[in-house]
Amino acid sequence: MSLRADLPVVLGIETSCDETGIGIVRGRELLANEIASSVEEHARFGGVVPEVASRAHLEAIEPAITRACVAAGMTLRDIDAVAVTAGPGLVGALLVGVATAKALGVALGVPVYGVNHLASHVVVDELQHGPLPDPTIGLLVSGGHSSLLLVADDASTITPLGQTLDDAAGEAFDKVARLLGLPFPGGPWIDRVALDGDPAAIAFPRGLNNPGDRERYPYDFSFSGLKTAVARWVRAREATGEAVPVADVAASVQEAIVDVLTSRLVSACRDTGVSHAVIGGGVAANSRLRAMAQARCDAAGVELRIPSTALCTDNGAMVAALGSRLARSGVAGSPLDFATTSNLPVTRSVW
Ligand code: KG4
Ligand code: ZN
Repeated sequence: MSLRADLPVVLGIETSCDETGIGIVRGRELLANEIASSVEEHARFGGVVPEVASRAHLEAIEPAITRACVAAGMTLRDIDAVAVTAGPGLVGALLVGVATAKALGVALGVPVYGVNHLASHVVVDELQHGPLPDPTIGLLVSGGHSSLLLVADDASTITPLGQTLDDAAGEAFDKVARLLGLPFPGGPWIDRVALDGDPAAIAFPRGLNNPGDRERYPYDFSFSGLKTAVARWVRAREATGEAVPVADVAASVQEAIVDVLTSRLVSACRDTGVSHAVIGGGVAANSRLRAMAQARCDAAGVELRIPSTALCTDNGAMVAALGSRLARSGVAGSPLDFATTSNLPVTRSVW
């Protein structure tokens, strides 16, 4: 890859959950981002069924690769490296992407990077807004993770500052949506329904807000109490025979989640003296989170970056973005016996 080391063409493969994502980037330029989702196959179960997801990846992956090549105006022979999510995620689902990546790497004679899904959610912003300032505070909010991160040197070094002690932010959105009878996945539905609701209608609890919590858990989150409070509130309302005001509940819950996420983000920036922040992960698609984070960061003098919503939810471009970053930094490809790791820690960007 020596001739094109500054602008490698990287194919990214994402199969950690229910989205089969194939992205192609050249350097930091996005050339293709194809997605096939099996979300509708899971909806009637109210959550992602791993076996169903794995089979769907197997059917979708080759056509998605072909579509991505067509969109980028390339053939596989133009690819300089392959990057694939090695974890965290559902092991059976990850295996489909990893096996495909290894086969492509061997067939094309190019390096394969087994990369971290969480780090990819942060690095993807580079495709839109250029190199991440060093250092940057990252707020990572997805269906399985919620963390505050200190990101140095474009994500090759990620130091966790705090994380959720129980449910992830996306999980909280999805569980509350279920309580309200909204379809799966609930996050986007809460976002939509909340537009017609009053965010101040119900004062739902902000987790870890008791005396002493700020000192003990300055950058952590807790959302399980919120879910319980909403369940109690809905049950009490149903017991009166009155209709549950779904829009008001959705708006109030969303406000509680977003308030906690954004206040912790700004505290982390202030305490560490870091004036750049980035938000990544599926929940970063939330319109209220985007607006409140922007307002609070502006007030605190923090320069905030959030990728477009299509780059926030799971996709292949984010994996390609991290692979490209690694290739341009001269990092060697992963040994071809690298494994899928359901709980790969965020500190480990690559195998
Ligand atoms: O990052 P992601 O696509 O997959 C994981 O890596 O988990 O995140 C999925 C999560 C789900 O919980 C989904 O409900 C949530 O992101 N989500 C949203 C929105 N769009 C997706 N949550 C709130 N508002 C949204 N607009
Ligand atoms: Zn994700």
